[in-house]
Amino acid sequence: MDLLIRNASLPNGRTGVDIAIAGGRINAVGVALAVDAAQEIDAGGNLVTPPFVDAHFHMDATLSYGLPRVNSSGTLLEGIALWGELKPMLTQEALVARAMQYCDWAVARGLLAIRSHVDICDDRLLAVEALLHVKRRVAPYLDLQLVAFPQDGLLRSPNAFANLKRAIAMGVDVVGGIPHFERTMAEGAESIKLLCEFAAEKGLRVDMHCDESDDPMSRHIETLAFHARRLGLHGLVAGSHLTSMHSMDNYYVSKLLPLIREAGVAAIANPLINITLQGRHDTYPKRRGMTRVPEMLAAGIEVAFGHDCVMDPWYSLGSGDMLEVAHMGLHVAQMTGQEAMHACFMAVTETPARILGLGGYGLAPGCNADLVVLDAGCTVEAIRLRAGRRYVIRRGKVISQSPAAQATLSLPGRPSALDFRLHSA
Ligand code: FE2
Repeated sequence: MDLLIRNASLPNGRTGVDIAIAGGRINAVGVALAVDAAQEIDAGGNLVTPPFVDAHFHMDATLSYGLPRVNSSGTLLEGIALWGELKPMLTQEALVARAMQYCDWAVARGLLAIRSHVDICDDRLLAVEALLHVKRRVAPYLDLQLVAFPQDGLLRSPNAFANLKRAIAMGVDVVGGIPHFERTMAEGAESIKLLCEFAAEKGLRVDMHCDESDDPMSRHIETLAFHARRLGLHGLVAGSHLTSMHSMDNYYVSKLLPLIREAGVAAIANPLINITLQGRHDTYPKRRGMTRVPEMLAAGIEVAFGHDCVMDPWYSLGSGDMLEVAHMGLHVAQMTGQEAMHACFMAVTETPARILGLGGYGLAPGCNADLVVLDAGCTVEAIRLRAGRRYVIRRGKVISQSPAAQATLSLPGRPSALDFRLHSA
């Protein structure tokens, strides 16, 4: 064996497990495995999980904070205006440099797969070229999936559909959209129809920014589910944000959720961004704005949490930490029951892996040996502590290490070494 991880706890609650790795794949998972390995890691009872997966990100905008100025109001509309100011100033070198820096942060956080939207409304397709280049460069250690995203509207922006088709021909993986940003409800619906038909023809996945508003009448998710079902795109379509669902009439939602489930459409909520951007027209009470996560999970719909933004025109914070995303999602959705908290961990690991269609993801023998050893004993503790990533492993090789989080106390009559875990090593 190339690598043996001893005494791991797994996300499913199993403890005292060894994981043997050979040839970049998981060879065996069991208790007290009698194997020799070139390298051994003692997990010390810590949680070992498949890597974090971000189902929704904007890598073309990331780390552009302050360019050309900061978003002083912090609103979605100022963010869109700011991105419009920044776009003509973008260079491929700067786009690549920022994206590469973010991918380094991601690796250190155990985030080894990212679905990033890329704006295709700039006729030069600079960002597309830059992110395709980054995708190839990071491929040995990070799976970057790109979505052709018509930020300014498919029908509203003159060359958007032609540019989207060019981007797909260049190698972008997924068809994006933004129906609520089109001029009318009818044009929003038409954009969904066109994009889903194009995706079906090309055999591609679909992921649309959908109903990212507080308008309870923004019902493009219904149209998206309808076309997904009509075109046989079951399991291939995701609706991102879906924040209008927060404000929808309850009776309507009771009819909508079964349609989404039957269509096999997944939902991607972005808690850090939606808790800050939604409800901005409200006084008090002020809506949270995030979509109905526990209700969709109860209805059998796949729900992932995405990071969406890190230090860009829309969000000044973030560092590529999907546990921070899960932590915020848990709070905003009030998912504080034991099973619900565990589901929040799944929403940044296994569920987005399925939504992206990642092959070889998981802990079973035969899966890729892509693993993260966390400084926590279980999934809930990982979220509570936004636990450090002791080891990040890709195809059986350690690609990042961090020391355990510890403080040294100087208090009378108290031990000096402080450990925030209950399940300490
Ligand atoms: Fe987004």
